[in-house]
Amino acid sequence: MDNFAFIIHPIDPKRDVSRKFPFLGRLLNEKQIDLFSTFFPPVYISEIEGITSQATGKEIKGWFIACPYTPRRMMELPERTVYHKIIQTGRLAEKLGAQILGLGAFTSVVGDAGVTIANALDVPVTTGDSYTVTVAVEAIREAALTMDIPLGGATAAVVGATGAIGQVCAELLSQDVERLYLIGRRRETLEELRTRLKIRARAELIVSTSMDVLAEAQLILTVTSALHEVIRPEHLQPGSVVCDVARPRDVSAMVSAARDDILVIDGGMVDVPGPVNFHFNFGFPPRKAYACMAETIALALEGRFEDYTLGKHLTRERVEEISAMAKKHGFRLSGFRSFEREVTQQHIETVRRNAKNARKLQTAHI
Ligand SMILES: NC(=O)c1ccc[n+]([C@@H]2O[C@H](COP(=O)([O-])OP(=O)(O)OC[C@H]3O[C@@H](n4cnc5c(N)ncnc54)[C@H](OP(=O)(O)O)[C@@H]3O)[C@@H](O)[C@H]2O)c1
Repeated sequence: MDNFAFIIHPIDPKRDVSRKFPFLGRLLNEKQIDLFSTFFPPVYISEIEGITSQATGKEIKGWFIACPYTPRRMMELPERTVYHKIIQTGRLAEKLGAQILGLGAFTSVVGDAGVTIANALDVPVTTGDSYTVTVAVEAIREAALTMDIPLGGATAAVVGATGAIGQVCAELLSQDVERLYLIGRRRETLEELRTRLKIRARAELIVSTSMDVLAEAQLILTVTSALHEVIRPEHLQPGSVVCDVARPRDVSAMVSAARDDILVIDGGMVDVPGPVNFHFNFGFPPRKAYACMAETIALALEGRFEDYTLGKHLTRERVEEISAMAKKHGFRLSGFRSFEREVTQQHIETVRRNAKNARKLQTAHI
């Protein structure tokens, strides 16, 4: 049976370590987990079964394996040390007999986004970023429809626009909307992106290094590699939609607590074809996976055992190819979730009503 392996790692240290090692999760605080993760070996997590292509009926199996580092550790330690640990985790996949390996969350962010790791391993590698782009952009388009925001006249923003995922998301959205803010930390790199996108863009493109411009945007796709939240309640306008693709999250939990006039959705979640059992709780409801996992799985279903998405410069061609491949095998955009809870129709109605009232209040104050 064809197969794959996927590397996960603790993102929220206490919560995620508790999922595999309840005792350690209870015993250690966040700082201690950060420190211990440096010395911990790669960990076998679970076998995944039941994934079946809707197109061909082919069934595959897979494995979750974990690189113990937290995002903070991956950013603090020397790049070579981090590569070494991810490669060690990849070797575990090779021992299991994996035919393709996906890099989850920060294992795909670090350094050159998988290139060095793929060169060191025999098993083909993918970051899963190409399909993540598709799913993120599809989610924001669908959320716009749900909130009655006409895409063609909308002002949107991509936060982390110079990143691997952010760049192609910005390219796709620049062909949909009227005005698009490209937000990041480096003005020069943002200007270069603007110059490149301008050739085919429908939207007016505006570069910014400040989150304050988010107050202008109705649709926000955020995908930074920041270790802490970068979007807070005061940044957002009533009735706006924020699709948070980043892990750790970019949107502060304060937004859901303090702003019932905004729709925040978790980006990058898809339905997996077949009666899949991951035999591990990574925080999603049954039969749902992150888009980056789905890319790895779709490649295994297709029998494409080759390095696929690597490096910081993704191509539109790869994004379109993996999107068609995933669709063919039966992956679908999942219903919306927000901070790991289902978004109900009632919640959407409440957000719409509150946004309308907030706008009325704003006008009255003017
Ligand atoms: N949901 C999913 O299925 C899925 C799949 C894959 C990845 N991800 C997540 O997606 C995120 C981005 O991945 P990537 O590979 O695109 O990373 P990347 O290539 O490193 O890009 C990150 C972007 O974030 C910006 N950034 C970093 N820290 C920032 C801060 N404090 N404030 C504002 N901008 C900041 C960077 O700007 P500079 O240019 O200034 O550094 C860059 O534009 C990660 O959180 C990753 O875990 C999610």
